[in-house]
Amino acid sequence: MKPIFADDAAIKVAAKLLSQGRLVAFPTETVYGLGADASNPIAIKRIFQAKGRPSDHPLIVHISSIDNLSDWALNIPDTAIKLANHFWPGPLAIILNKKPEVPLEVTGGQNTVGLRMPDHPVALQLLSVFGGGIAAPSANRFCRISPTQAAHVEEELGSTVDMILDGGVCGVGVESTIVDLSGDVAKLLRPGHITRQEIEAVLQEELRIAESQVQPNLSDVRAPGMMSVHYAPLTVAMLCPYDRLDDIIKLLCLQNKTIGLLAYQYNPPENRGLHLLCMPEQAESYAQTLYASLRDLDSRELDIILIEQPPETQAWYAINDRLGKATTLAWPNH
Ligand code: TXA
Ligand code: MG
Repeated sequence: MKPIFADDAAIKVAAKLLSQGRLVAFPTETVYGLGADASNPIAIKRIFQAKGRPSDHPLIVHISSIDNLSDWALNIPDTAIKLANHFWPGPLAIILNKKPEVPLEVTGGQNTVGLRMPDHPVALQLLSVFGGGIAAPSANRFCRISPTQAAHVEEELGSTVDMILDGGVCGVGVESTIVDLSGDVAKLLRPGHITRQEIEAVLQEELRIAESQVQPNLSDVRAPGMMSVHYAPLTVAMLCPYDRLDDIIKLLCLQNKTIGLLAYQYNPPENRGLHLLCMPEQAESYAQTLYASLRDLDSRELDIILIEQPPETQAWYAINDRLGKATTLAWPNH
């Protein structure tokens, strides 16, 4: 399935397909989503099949307005309204207690539902023409790198999706921040572009970091984004501090390895046949290009991808979270 430029006519067709229970990939400000009618269990099952994702992993329902929260959630706390008013449309998903009529297929059998109003004109227009909620995980195969361009969706899911709406490159580039407000305390389930501090400033309370975020455990995964291997290239990838890169590259060259390097500040002293991609210095631009760069290096069938450790400050928290999950190895003394 070739991507189709997301003009009014294409969006109309996409909305019709959704209402017929079909799958439509569409752009959001974070990554491309694989969408289906969130009220249609058969359509939802198609998402899990297309992604190869286990059916107990819940999906986020995309809605077009804060007013739609009450169509999906029960006992909506003030904190949810505060966050939605402040950050929506935007890269924040909120977990709330679900209404009984929300299909368990969407929530992976849980009594909570993830909701988000995306900040992308195509996504918002699609939601408004369709008129309901759209369940949409990232439009990639399970445990692979999320797509930030329509062409990535075609590579990942080309034959299994009924339409791919092309709305250009996603502006944010990493998946939404997820906050769980279904219990007594607010918890951060997945870091993203909207930081913990920004959320705490609006809530005026501390945000607990979910246990599994601190110590990912495959047997207790509420959000698949928490699994230690996720967002991963197929090539072995290693996170390396700046001051060890020279040695590591020399060592690998001696072994005749083909090497990809996602560099932050490092400049190789000589050309050793490295496949070098220089990343932006600002966290926001780095995040925007991260997945496309990993995909690019992954497609070159190299022996190893080295990723230079970027700064570890708050602004880089979500990026470091994803890099940790994309890499199978880390330099031991780091
Ligand atoms: O930025 C995003 O959120 C993108 C775009 C397409 O909106 N979507 C996305 O979906 O990243 P997905 O399925 O790849 O990740 C959604 C995360 C998963 O880790 C899922 O487990 C979690 O949200 N989630 C959804 N509903 C949940 C629930 N009821 N309880 C806990 N986690 C939930
Ligand atoms: Mg995903």
